[in-house]
Amino acid sequence: MEIIIKNDYDEMSLASADIVIKQIREKPHSSFSFIAGYTPIGLYRELVTACQHEELSFAAAKAFDLDEYVGLSPEDENSFYHFLNKHIFINCNFDQENVYLINGGAQDLEDECLKHEQLIMTTGGIDVQFLGIGQNGHIGFNEPGSSFDSVTRVIDLASKTRYANAKYFGSIEAVPYKAITVGLKTIMQARQIVLMATGEKKADIVAAALQGEITEEVPASILQRHDNLIVVLDKEAAAKLKNI
Ligand code: F6R
Repeated sequence: MEIIIKNDYDEMSLASADIVIKQIREKPHSSFSFIAGYTPIGLYRELVTACQHEELSFAAAKAFDLDEYVGLSPEDENSFYHFLNKHIFINCNFDQENVYLINGGAQDLEDECLKHEQLIMTTGGIDVQFLGIGQNGHIGFNEPGSSFDSVTRVIDLASKTRYANAKYFGSIEAVPYKAITVGLKTIMQARQIVLMATGEKKADIVAAALQGEITEEVPASILQRHDNLIVVLDKEAAAKLKNI
């Protein structure tokens, strides 16, 4: 794995954006899988700026999302669908036909999961999978205990995850109990994975995931087995890594 450590969040965001710019230069029709949350907001800001300056074009690219709350429709302001449209898709020149987002408000959730999984496969797989990490080691919403063989499915959110995300919903009661997430097996099939983390709150789990035991209790630890993993951290998130 390659570990890039930057001084702060802004530099981390720029370094992550450079990975996208390089990828598009080499393969304009690349397929990306993007995430929601605080961590990638700076990355999206950089990508939008690059698109606006015509230094980057997603016209031929494909994009997927990684997870979504169950019960939130695309219009819901707390849905990842809404988040990703707002932060990246509508401000960059994606062809909307090539943007595949999970609908957490779907009537048939099993079918929604199957459809997302199949779309990833039938469109040729993911070239670059972005990931953040939860303080409990989740990637996507693959909570501790998720099988390394898992594919896209409905999952119960860990209470730690619900509490961490309550700030967006105004109260813990409003946070959904379930989510759809792309599984760990599917994530590992991406040709390249970029794991991002920022801030001291992530330092312990980053060290455990990258240098600790590979175990389903720390879902992100499976990333140690990926042969094309880039980790982009700020100094605070990297603080507990040893011998780097
Ligand atoms: C979101 C996702 C999650 C987040 C993780 C970190 O789409 O997949 O795994 O990446 O919960 O969230 P932040 O960045 O808000 O700390």
